[in-house]
This record gives sequence, C-alpha cells and structure tokens, in this order.
Amino acid sequence: MKTKTLDDLFLDTLKDIYYAERKILKALPKMARGAQSAELKAAFEKHHEETQGQIERLQEVFEMLGKPARGKTCPAIDGILEEGEEILDSFKGSEALDAGLVAAAQAVEHYEMARYGTLRNWAELLGHTDAVNLFQKTLTEEEATDSALTKLAEGSVNKAAVAAA
Ligand SMILES: [Fe+2]
Ligand SMILES: [Fe+2]
Repeated sequence: MKTKTLDDLFLDTLKDIYYAERKILKALPKMARGAQSAELKAAFEKHHEETQGQIERLQEVFEMLGKPARGKTCPAIDGILEEGEEILDSFKGSEALDAGLVAAAQAVEHYEMARYGTLRNWAELLGHTDAVNLFQKTLTEEEATDSALTKLAEGSVNKAAVAAA
C-alpha cells in the first residue's frame, strides 16, 4: 500500500467539510423556521445564503486540484446537527428554545472554524495559494456568524430564556 501524504489528508479533509457544508445548508432553513426571535431567524437565513457561497468556494478548490467535488461522510457534523434537531423537537414552544438553537448553531460554527483553519494552513504548506484565500474568506464568515450568535445570546435570547424560567 502506498504511504499516505499530506496531500491525501488535505483532500480527505476537503471532502469532509464539503459533506458538512451541504448538510448544514439543509439544516439552516429548519433552524430558521424553528427560531422564535425574528433576529435569530434572520441570522440563520443570512448564514444559509453565505453557506451556498461557501459550497461554491469548495467546488472551486476541487477544480483547482483537478478532482471531482465529492463529499465524505462526516460523523461529527451528523452528530452536531442531530443534537440541534433534538433541541428543535424537545424545546418546541419553550422560551428556552432560541437559547438552545444558538448553542447548537455555535457548535456547528466552531466545527467549521476548526476545519477551515486547518485547511487554510495545509493549503499554505502545500503551495495552494488560491485555495488559502478561499478558505480564509469562508473562515472569516464563520467567525462573524459565531460572533453574531454570541451577541444575540447575550443581548436577548438568553434573557428571554431566563425571564421565563
Ligand atoms: Fe459553512
Ligand atoms: Fe457556518
């Protein structure tokens, strides 16, 4: 068997995040529908649009590598999204629902930030300069989404949950 290289690891990780982003694209409208506050709904809708662009960036990277854009099952994102669905189901009608949705969404953003940070660094090491820029753009969007969620949680979402407790 041929020894695997950093190139193989890079491609595997690219496939992992490609799978994850497409799952996230499907999950975000459900989270937007479930969210009680208009601001949280809007945040999920905005990020849904951004996610479409992020998927296109990944397709560009596959193209640069001369590889077909293909995902590889990522059990981590499946689990994180499952937990989000559980919150949607079990906290339906509860004032704590939005607080739970923010928490679930932040787990998604942190997973993405970890992946994109790694991919950007590996792309740099491997000399894929154009890919570095694409990963950085997406990483910046994920970080901005995470901060927006923190602000929502601190501003209104958690207060609503506490007021109703
Ligand atoms: Fe994303
Ligand atoms: Fe994201």
